Amino acid sequence: MRSSANIKGHPLHPMLIPFPFAYLFGSALINVWARRGGRSEWYRTASHMSVLGLGSAVVAAVPGLIDYAFAVPPKSSARRRATSHMFANLSAVGLFAAARLGRRGDDRPPSAAALAAELCGAGLLAAGGWLGGTLVYRNQIAVDHRYADAGKWRVKTFSPDTPGSQEVDAGSNDELGPDQMKLLRIGARRIVLARTDSGHVAFDDRCTHTGGPLADGALACGVVQCPWHGSQFNVHTGEVKRGPAEEGIKTYEVTERSGRVWVRLPSEEVSAS
Ligand code: FES
Repeated sequence: MRSSANIKGHPLHPMLIPFPFAYLFGSALINVWARRGGRSEWYRTASHMSVLGLGSAVVAAVPGLIDYAFAVPPKSSARRRATSHMFANLSAVGLFAAARLGRRGDDRPPSAAALAAELCGAGLLAAGGWLGGTLVYRNQIAVDHRYADAGKWRVKTFSPDTPGSQEVDAGSNDELGPDQMKLLRIGARRIVLARTDSGHVAFDDRCTHTGGPLADGALACGVVQCPWHGSQFNVHTGEVKRGPAEEGIKTYEVTERSGRVWVRLPSEEVSAS
């Protein structure tokens, strides 16, 4: 799922997190090293690294929160993992901030409690980094998929009150090429509009296995494949063609009029939006 906080498609959060990680880890390790070797001149360096780490952590958190809100699929295993990632890192920053507040001066050694807080914070940073790596390398969060002929990533967002009727205007009927997809965000609902050899179709973005984003998958011969574990679904009927998913996906009625593609939402979803 393409990052929502990016520069020309390059996600900002992974670009920024090496700074707080290096500064905060460095602060804890230098304090230990200085304390064990009696190198008191290094306490000031560790103190400055702690300040730089806390400041850069705040900056790095902003695109991370944007991606958490808009790029991580809701009701998915990745969302649970991203929540743990966020709390691990926030707790780590909180511990480093507490150690910083308890400091007795830049040139003096940190208290045992402050040093313990920094070491616990470093451990949490490592756990948060592990989870972040899993989010990218397994869940493919912030990865911009470009398989052959898939076209560029497309998304259209409707304001929650947009669907005043049961149909939403999903765009021009020549926007998508064969086997290309586009994500429609309609309130809390995420629907994929796709073009097959036999016309446009629409179906839920959420894979019924563990919530993978089907808009990020591959579409061919009327079948979409989930990018996480390879479940396949018939995009016309929603039925499972291949597991591990056991439950089919929901499909929506699509019509073409006056050169536009219209997706019909069930009335209860319109009123809920
Ligand atoms: S989330 Fe596992 S196959 Fe889609």
